Amino acid sequence: MERITVLDFGGQYNQLIARRVRECGVYAEVTPCTAGRDKVDKEGLMGVILTGGPNSAYAPGAPAVPDWLFELNIPILGICYGMQALAVKLGGKVGPGEAGEFGHCDIAYSAHPLFEGMKGEHVWMNHNDRVIVPPEGFKTIASSALCPVAAMADDKEKLYAVQFHPEVHHTPEGTALFKNFLFNVCGCEGGWSPSNLADDLVKAVREQVGDAPVIAALSGGVDSSVASVLVHRAVGDRLTCIFVDHGMLRQNEAKEVLDFYRDSLKMDVRFVDASERFLTKLAGVTDPEQKRKIIGTEFIRVFEEEAKKLGGADYLVQGTIYPDIIESGPGNAAVIKSHHNVGGLPKNVDFKGLVEPLRYLFKDEVRELGLSLGIPEHLVWRQPFPGPGLAVRIVGEITKEKLEIVRKSDYIFRTEVAAAGLDRAIWQYFTVYTGVRSVGVMGDARTYDSVVALRAVLSTDAMTVEVAELPYPLLRKISNRIINEVPGCNRVVYDITSKPPGTIEWE
Ligand code: XMP
Repeated sequence: MERITVLDFGGQYNQLIARRVRECGVYAEVTPCTAGRDKVDKEGLMGVILTGGPNSAYAPGAPAVPDWLFELNIPILGICYGMQALAVKLGGKVGPGEAGEFGHCDIAYSAHPLFEGMKGEHVWMNHNDRVIVPPEGFKTIASSALCPVAAMADDKEKLYAVQFHPEVHHTPEGTALFKNFLFNVCGCEGGWSPSNLADDLVKAVREQVGDAPVIAALSGGVDSSVASVLVHRAVGDRLTCIFVDHGMLRQNEAKEVLDFYRDSLKMDVRFVDASERFLTKLAGVTDPEQKRKIIGTEFIRVFEEEAKKLGGADYLVQGTIYPDIIESGPGNAAVIKSHHNVGGLPKNVDFKGLVEPLRYLFKDEVRELGLSLGIPEHLVWRQPFPGPGLAVRIVGEITKEKLEIVRKSDYIFRTEVAAAGLDRAIWQYFTVYTGVRSVGVMGDARTYDSVVALRAVLSTDAMTVEVAELPYPLLRKISNRIINEVPGCNRVVYDITSKPPGTIEWE
C-alpha cells in the first residue's frame, strides 16, 4: 500500500497534515522525528513530510532531520519548522525574521509543479524564524513580504519546503498543494479511503495482544463500537465487551445500547450498573477537571474488577480518537480538558496495555471505517456522547435532581430535532444544566428555578464547531415543552458560542 510518513517535530497540526494527505486518497501516518529508520522505511513509502515544531532549528539540541532520510531517495516536503530544519541540515542559513508572521499572509508563487493550478491566494503563517539563505541546489519558489524564502525546492534531489501551513483550512489552497506533492512529485496513485484501514488495524491489534484475553469498554458511541468490532475481528471470542452505567446516561440509553449491541451487532456484552458508586464518588465535587479524573479512574477500577471476575484480561480496548488526545494535552500542547479515557486515566492501571486502534483518526474517518466494517448507519451516525456522560453537562455538583432535569430536557430536545428531520445534519445537540437559577412567573405564581441551555453545533471533526442555526419555531416549541414538562426548569436559553473560543461540552 502506498503511504506517506509525516515526521513529527512537535507542531500543533501534525495529525492534520496526515489527515489532509488521507483526504487526498493516500494513506499517511505520523511518526516521531526521533523514530529510527526501520519505523519509517516501510513498504510503499512514497514520500516524507516534515512537520512544524516549537524549536529554533539552529538552537543547540533542536530536533534535526535524520541523515538516513536522504538515503531513502524519496521526495521530502518540509513544513514550517520542517523547512527550517531541512535548511539547517543541508547547509542553508536560518534565523529570526524582522518580525514574526502569524495568521493570514499574501504570497507569490513561481511556476513550479508544487503549485500547479494554484492561484496564489493567501496562506496561513505561524513563525518567527525563517530561511535566510537556502542550501546549495535549492531555488526560492515563493515569497511573502516578510519572508523572501517562503518556499524552496531542489528538484534534482526532490526536496521541497514551505514556510506556511498548507494543512490548516485557513490556507484555502492547501489541499491543492498536498495533491501536487503527492501526485506530481511523489507519483502516488491515490484511491485510499478510511475503509481500507480495517485490515491494517486488525493486523496491528493482533500483533499487540497476541493470545491474551481482552476486554472492551463500550459506551454506545461510534468510537467504542468501531474499536470493539475491529478488535473482535482480530481476536474473536477472546474479547469480552463491558458496558457500564455510571448513572449519568441519557434517558433510555442503557437499554437502547444493550439491545443494539446484542441484537444488531451480535456482540457478547456484560452490563454493569455502577451508578451509585460513581455518584457517591462525585458527591460534592464541582471542579470540571476533578470530575473528569474521578470518572476516568472509576471507569478503570470497574473494568479491572470485571476483568478479575472473568479470570483476568491483559488488555483494555478504548475507543480513543485523535481529538481526545490533543485536548488532553499530549507533549507540548495545552490541556484543554482531560478526556476521561486519556488525561483522566489514573496513573496505575492494572492492565498490560490499552488497545486504542482509532487513536490517530478523526470522527468522520472513524465513521467511514465503521461503515466499511458493516456497522449499521444509524449507529455510525449516532451523535457523539462523551464518556463522562451528563456529568460534563451539569455545571457544579452532580445530583440526582439535576440529572433528571438534564435527562428530561435532553430527551425533549432530541425528540423534537429528530421529528424535524435535523438529527443527521447536526453534529451534537443536547441540553445543559447551567447552574443558574432565575425568577419566573407560572400560573400567576413566582418561580425561582433552573436555567437550561440548548447546545447544537455543526462540525466535521469536533476540533472546531459552528453553532447550528435551528429554525426559530423549532426552538420555541422545544423551549415551551421543556418548561411545561420538566419540573424545576423555568427558563431556556440557546448557547450561540462557536469552538473556539468555547468547547462543545460546557465542562
Ligand atoms: P469538547 O467539549 O472538548 O468536545 O469540544 C469534543 C468532543 O469530545 C466529546 N468529549 C468527550 N468524549 N470523553 C469522551 O469520550 C470525554 O472525556 C469527553 N469530553 C468531551 C464531546 O462530546 C465532543 O464530541
